[in-house]
Amino acid sequence: MPGAADAPPFVVLGVSAGISAYKAVEVCRRLVDAGVHVAPVLTERATRFVGKATFDALGSEPTQIGLWDEASPIPHTRLGQRADLVVVAPATADLLARYAGGFADDLLTATLVATAAPVVVCPAMHTEMWEHPSVQHNLAVLSSRGVTVIPPEEGRLAGGDVGPGRLADPALIVERVLDLLGRPVGVGSPGAAAPATGDLAGIRVVVSAGGTREPIDPVRFITNRSSGKQGHALAEAAARRGAQVVLVTASSRPVGPGVVVVPVETAADMEAAVLSRSEGADVVIMAAAVADFRPKVVHGSKLHKTDGVPELILEPTPDILFELGRRRRQGQVLVGFAAETDRVFERARAKLVGKGVDLMVANDVAAEGVGFDHDTNEVTILGADGSTTEVPLRGKNAVADAILDRVCALLCAR
Ligand code: C5P
Repeated sequence: MPGAADAPPFVVLGVSAGISAYKAVEVCRRLVDAGVHVAPVLTERATRFVGKATFDALGSEPTQIGLWDEASPIPHTRLGQRADLVVVAPATADLLARYAGGFADDLLTATLVATAAPVVVCPAMHTEMWEHPSVQHNLAVLSSRGVTVIPPEEGRLAGGDVGPGRLADPALIVERVLDLLGRPVGVGSPGAAAPATGDLAGIRVVVSAGGTREPIDPVRFITNRSSGKQGHALAEAAARRGAQVVLVTASSRPVGPGVVVVPVETAADMEAAVLSRSEGADVVIMAAAVADFRPKVVHGSKLHKTDGVPELILEPTPDILFELGRRRRQGQVLVGFAAETDRVFERARAKLVGKGVDLMVANDVAAEGVGFDHDTNEVTILGADGSTTEVPLRGKNAVADAILDRVCALLCAR
């Protein structure tokens, strides 16, 4: 029977035998940090990829693997009945087939069949397997029974291929699990209760930050001078003011309390992470310096100078802010940044209109103490309503608060 109303939610974390099983460690840690009681259950073969000892140390109770490990001969019914939710990450093609077929020949599948709790599966496998009709059929069967499927992402897979099949971002998995458990996400430690005070209390904010890295080969990339300081300051300030904040960042800077961090590397990663999270957001602030161009071809192995100077052909990256403007739902506030070195306001105003945003924060990054990597900034906030707010040179935290004041005013007016 699921726990009492004031007890921490009881989640069974199932791990099957995929290379991304190591990412389940992060799912486990984040769920425990969010105040969830995590009971890890590994399949026998999953232990070839990741150690039981790791889950023993990070989970809320000892890891279980076999049907006969426990003193009790029926651990699957204990787990299945006690669970408020079961999440399987990664879910391999084999695990999905056994679950869809009602097999119960190990502790994880037996628990899945024995539970009445919501179940979330996070498939991860090679692209060919993901696209195989049997896998898609099993997922359709499971979906029709009410199982939540968090699809894999597109990206580099084990073995170097690129395509759909990579396990969904652990932060996203944890967000969905907390969401299904009815727990607020992103304030205090992830999943803690929202503070009652602050002019952004209850507002869901997505902030992007940092300069993306666009790979040339496994050891080289193209990037820019962005440090992520202004975006991180915005995320921290929004959390201080009571918002539920998700920070999608290409920067490895530390982040203050109350912010759910989603690390990304490329513009494509950032696009997937921002678009999936912005659907439910009240405010989206694109402070990231997203690369405008990326190498058209990413070499799978290191380029050598002995092979001559490589020709670097670039292609445009997806314009995330433009896409956000296109998809924007009623009442959502959208903020962009325009870091310029000349004709600053003219260019910023053109981007404000072209990308369909409410506010464009313009900064002249050629000026002393302004923009990239400085601790200070000087900006002008241009509004779609024709307004202009000058924010003179000051610390990035104070600039963040000035931007959020404008966001608050827009939210109040809606
Ligand atoms: O077009 P430009 O790069 O100058 O626009 C800057 C604004 O657009 C920033 O808010 C940045 O985060 C966003 N942007 C984006 N996707 C891109 C390039 C920029 O969302 N590919």
